[in-house]
Amino acid sequence: MLNLTHTKVKTLLATAPKSQKVTVKGWVRTRRGNKNVAFIALNDGSVIHNIQIVADPNNFNEELMKNITTGSCLRVTGNLVESLGSGQPVEIQATEIELYGSADPNVYPLQKKGHSMEFLREIAHLRPRTNTFGAVLRVRHAMSYAIHKYFNDNGFYYLHTPIITGSDAEGAGEMFQVTTLNLHNLPKTPEGQIDFSLDFFARPTNLTVSGQLEGELGALALGEIYTFGPTFRAENSNTPRHLAEFWMVEPEMAFYEIRDNMDLAEDFVKYLVRYALDHCADDLAFFNQMYDKELLERLQVVATNDFVRLTYTEAVDILMKSGQKWEFPVDWGTDLQAEHERYLVEKHFVKPVILTDYPKKIKAFYMYQNEDKKTVRGMDVLFPKIGEIIGGSQREHRLDKLVERMREMNVPEKEMWWYLDTRRFGTAPHSGFGLGFERLILFITGMSNIRDVIPFPRTPRNAEF
Ligand code: 4AD
Ligand code: MG
Repeated sequence: MLNLTHTKVKTLLATAPKSQKVTVKGWVRTRRGNKNVAFIALNDGSVIHNIQIVADPNNFNEELMKNITTGSCLRVTGNLVESLGSGQPVEIQATEIELYGSADPNVYPLQKKGHSMEFLREIAHLRPRTNTFGAVLRVRHAMSYAIHKYFNDNGFYYLHTPIITGSDAEGAGEMFQVTTLNLHNLPKTPEGQIDFSLDFFARPTNLTVSGQLEGELGALALGEIYTFGPTFRAENSNTPRHLAEFWMVEPEMAFYEIRDNMDLAEDFVKYLVRYALDHCADDLAFFNQMYDKELLERLQVVATNDFVRLTYTEAVDILMKSGQKWEFPVDWGTDLQAEHERYLVEKHFVKPVILTDYPKKIKAFYMYQNEDKKTVRGMDVLFPKIGEIIGGSQREHRLDKLVERMREMNVPEKEMWWYLDTRRFGTAPHSGFGLGFERLILFITGMSNIRDVIPFPRTPRNAEF
């Protein structure tokens, strides 16, 4: 067992005080007091709560005491005692204080007063030191761990799919190109095209928009796999729910048909919500109090209710009969917007919803085509406050149908020879989906902007830090 000389605040707050000698290291959140006593709230990121340090300024160097201001970093050794003040079970009566680093109050931007989310985005390098971002980052960690645990416990293998690819999994053309060619002097073919044969990979490449296609290769060998990695989309969407770089969890399962896929998606997200309720109680209580008074209630609703399942066609019918005024009009064949998704979830059913059987023309080429020739076995999971949190489908595993659809949609068949090989050799029904990790974190924390649930957001015109 790791045995360090200092103890985490989280551990100390759960330790019975017997005046034992302890050492703690962390950053000063606040300092108050007078000539004879200083109360220092110290936080080390291990938990949302601070530990209170009590020091008699007369026992310490004057220069040192002057430098104990918000943001400075300290080592404190002292005795852990029961706290007589309200608000904390224990405190440390300091006997030694070492200043690791001061933080000039005239320039350190994170003073005690509350800051706007917009301001904090400008100082994303320091915002992890706030209560809010500390809590967000701990929840991100807990959810990452829970994702691996869920899949491991259910016999799925973690498959690492490439970040740099030559294909466009979603066929939406929203890709960031990857090249080492000199952009100021591009080599040209005799026909005047860019000569990618001289590029690093001797072909055009891009950052992946989804690990799905490679995930399918894994599933058709290992049975059940999942990927969990960064994905990139050059879509110019300036919304509170879109990032240019986001993390996606993509399970892919051989022998699952659409119903199995829905069952897995529902079980999986309920598990994650329950895991957060069980393991992140302090941080969730903070979010519930500071940002969203209905958060815990909403998490309970999702964890304990069966999701409603209906087809796109049924949903469009409900939306058209709703009498609502939409910003984007609905009719059969158009893609649903967040306002429609949220109406279904928040107003009509008041439960999470899984929609299936979308018109084929608004979905990707790889989805299983229904008998009706109009719809495909796609599925989206819609959540309160978020709208689409999961997108997935049963895959088209019949070679002839897949090729036909690729031709219709101008998906380069020749370049996708490896994908088509899975349908040539031992093809099998299979399904999968993608959970947007930041959308999950938005839901779990009740935060309202996706830029505030990832440490360093990448959005149009913004790649600072
Ligand atoms: O619905 P999408 O585009 O589906 C796919 O990429 C499939 N290949 C997944 C699969 O079947 N394996 O994206 C899946 C999810 C969305 O439901 C959403 O939660 C999230 O990824 N997402 C984004 N999150 C943040 N920023 C963006 N720009 C996102 N685009 C999609
Ligand atoms: Mg989608």
